[in-house]
Amino acid sequence: MAFLDLIERKRDGGALSPDEIHGFVKEVVAGALPREQVSAFLMAVLFRGMDDSERRILTLAMRDSGEVLVWTPDPGRPVVDKHSTGGVGDKVSLPLAPLLASLGFRVPMISGRGLGITGGTLDKLESIPGFSTRLPSERIRELVEEDGVAMVGQTDRMVPADRILYALRDVTGTVPSRDLITASILSKKLAEGLEALVLDVKCGAAAFMKTRSEATRLAESLEGLANQCGVGTRAFVTRMDQPLGRAAGNWLEVVESVECLRGRGPADLRELVCCFAGSLMVQTGRADDLAAAIGVAAGELDSGRPLAVWHRMLERQGSDMDAYSRRLDSVVLAPVVQEFRSPASGYVSQVDARRLGKALRRLGAGRLQAGDEVDPEVGFDQIVQVGDSVRTGDVLVRIHARTLQAADTAISEIANAFGIQDAPVDRQAVRIT
Ligand code: URA
Repeated sequence: MAFLDLIERKRDGGALSPDEIHGFVKEVVAGALPREQVSAFLMAVLFRGMDDSERRILTLAMRDSGEVLVWTPDPGRPVVDKHSTGGVGDKVSLPLAPLLASLGFRVPMISGRGLGITGGTLDKLESIPGFSTRLPSERIRELVEEDGVAMVGQTDRMVPADRILYALRDVTGTVPSRDLITASILSKKLAEGLEALVLDVKCGAAAFMKTRSEATRLAESLEGLANQCGVGTRAFVTRMDQPLGRAAGNWLEVVESVECLRGRGPADLRELVCCFAGSLMVQTGRADDLAAAIGVAAGELDSGRPLAVWHRMLERQGSDMDAYSRRLDSVVLAPVVQEFRSPASGYVSQVDARRLGKALRRLGAGRLQAGDEVDPEVGFDQIVQVGDSVRTGDVLVRIHARTLQAADTAISEIANAFGIQDAPVDRQAVRIT
């Protein structure tokens, strides 16, 4: 059947058969379909949606378009991962992966790069001198089997269908389709050969999903489909109106992650790290009760063992440990550091993560387009949080910039990101569901 017939059927609200979806994915990967037809099809899916069966078949066909990781059976060491829809200061993966390995899981954490105002785990890790995120699947397997963890980018052989479709979606206004987002995210996670997955669906001004209802619907779509595909999955909706933690920017987030691995650091970061680890313990039958499992995860974090796993992972993935330690001791790497101070006394009522994210990107920490270079050293730290009490002249945020002019521009961009009011403000719970 000509592909035009499928486009027209989807345009008119019809459904595609499993064979038709498999054929579509195969032809996309073979480069056999004209880009304008694939684009038209994606737009038809965006407007008409897919039913459960179409979405599941598309996800599995995309997963199987490339290499799927296979693990040595070992019921005592389940293979798990976490995925976040992304936000400003979202560094959860960095402490979470070594914590999970320390708890006895195997963690092939395959992550992405930042785009737009959203940071990416690979960019953060690559601010560590020498750390390599480009490893072949044989090496990923070796590291995960031996050490319990590898934090890497997707190999060229994994999920080629998503690479092609995502690039087209990016330039055709078809990214915001819940069906296509679900298939895109899950095809990549399912290709890791996981037994359990935890999903962090961010919700708020600086998130992909702005409202609680949008985020909840995406969370349900992802959780439902991943479970149907045989991966025990739990999705949490978490707040992304203010940055997570008190630092945003690639190196500065590594510093904050190490604080978390030392049992310190911001409470919201620690809460999500322990919640996701606890949830995976429940999902894999290692604990019955989430609250108790979170307590076990917190105790493990405080034991220092996850920090030792982190150090081993850095060494095994090529880091220059002396240079890393020197950087960690100095914290500040950027040539210019400026403080933005509070004009009034009171309580912080707003820290607009969207404005901070845009300023962060302008400073050079993020990308406007895939393929842009990022500056590992620039960013923000000492960011206040909603509910903090401040006095006139206290630091609201510290700006790390390449030049004085870049710092001044950032200050003008973020000046209105902060709200200060007289009356006390409740702290925001980071977890919504
Ligand atoms: N992240 C992905 O990997 N895919 C999408 O479609 C959206 C966010």
